[in-house]
Amino acid sequence: MPKSRSRTLHAAPGMHDLLPAETALWERIERSARALAEQRGYRLVVTPLLEPTELFARGVGDTTDVVEKEMYTFEDKGGRSLSLRPEATASAVRAYFDGGLHQAPQPVRLHYWGPMFRYDRPQAGRYRQFFQFGVEAIGEAAPEVDVETIELSRTWLERCGLTGVSLQLNSIGDEVCRPRYREALRDHFRPHIETMCADCRRRFDTNPLRLLDCRKSSCEPYQQGAPRSIDFLCEPCAGHHQAVREELDALDIPFQDNPRLVRGLDYYTRTTFEFWAADLEGAQNALGGGGRYDGLAEVLGYNATPAVGFAMGVDRVVLAMQRQGVKLAPRPTRVWLIPAAEGAAVEAHKLAGELRQAGWEVGVVFGAVSLKAGMRQAQKSGAQCVLIVGPAELESATVTVRDMTAGSQRQVARAAVLDEVDRVLGFPEEDDAPNPTWTKAGAIAETDG
Ligand code: HAM
Repeated sequence: MPKSRSRTLHAAPGMHDLLPAETALWERIERSARALAEQRGYRLVVTPLLEPTELFARGVGDTTDVVEKEMYTFEDKGGRSLSLRPEATASAVRAYFDGGLHQAPQPVRLHYWGPMFRYDRPQAGRYRQFFQFGVEAIGEAAPEVDVETIELSRTWLERCGLTGVSLQLNSIGDEVCRPRYREALRDHFRPHIETMCADCRRRFDTNPLRLLDCRKSSCEPYQQGAPRSIDFLCEPCAGHHQAVREELDALDIPFQDNPRLVRGLDYYTRTTFEFWAADLEGAQNALGGGGRYDGLAEVLGYNATPAVGFAMGVDRVVLAMQRQGVKLAPRPTRVWLIPAAEGAAVEAHKLAGELRQAGWEVGVVFGAVSLKAGMRQAQKSGAQCVLIVGPAELESATVTVRDMTAGSQRQVARAAVLDEVDRVLGFPEEDDAPNPTWTKAGAIAETDG
């Protein structure tokens, strides 16, 4: 066999599998994200992973890092330039107009969960394929909607069991007031620009706001004392920003004013925000971010339409959960069946089937050497209700139902077993409660029940 053929294959750099050990937690936080979004009227939108390259070049901005350096772009067999989506906001706006949602009652609230692709240097918290949970409220300019999206993202992070997360807030104005601010920034950086990095030198002309979030040590010192966008806001932008701040205060949502928060995508106007985790390092500490993008629809060639949204980086949220020792609480199987007589196994299979049909998760202890050993095994597995089919029960077409919490048991007719289990445990739980249970480090690790 040729040598190259015998090499083992691995996932591409910056892309990884999610194995069953992780998918339980992923599924749980995904369910929670979707439930929170739906509760607030954000309905699911699914857009293609591939879009015309121009959508991102125009929407996200062709001088941004994301478009300039990080897109997976190729020509299809028809000669069209397509790109794997690096984000989903431009796609959501395109879908909103493509699908005629601009004619529906406004705003249209959308949510999504899925993979995004950016060709960046992989490291902890930065991947080439990563997942985002995002929402977009399109068609409303009111500051209350900004607050609604902030509240939703913050609640989700809380539901994920994370602590020590700070909300960073800024306003970068709009096309009315931003030109004056850009000039003020150029005036500030001009004396130092020759000693700053190549990216900053280039951005000095194209987008001087980005000079504020360069993390290179050669550039950071010059950011001190730079003019702040909030000091340059026109009256409507200042009023909007004030309204967002007051409403966050009134709702007891703490935030930090961050005059350097300019975001890396070109479409933002007015409100910008990010959630930072103390447990993640450097440039990877943003768990998510968003803001208002009132100018995006027009840039894409549609009618001017105000909008606001956010995207949370799911991989980073999971990483922060791991660093904080947040684990999915064990969810033991609550009902266990012990066939403890010759020929009771078939009866156990049937009984378990009926209970499962009624919504219970049911385990069966097969192969126990004695009833006592079976009970021990069920107890270790977290049983709250144990059903015993022994010789006496087989003989009389009954089942012994033991309430493990109360330590009591009753022998009931075979036909009354379901009622008895319901009596002991209450009805089967709906597993879609939006508030999951987490354990902190040191608690029992997740088991399969
Ligand atoms: P973004 O700040 O580019 O915004 O990405 C949002 C989040 O996605 C980041 O805060 C981070 O958690 C995660 N993320 C970004 N790049 C990577 C990566 N290479 N590896 C792992 N995680 C990553 C947006 O994408 C906007 N579309 C958000 C938005 C929605 N604004 C308005 N609506």
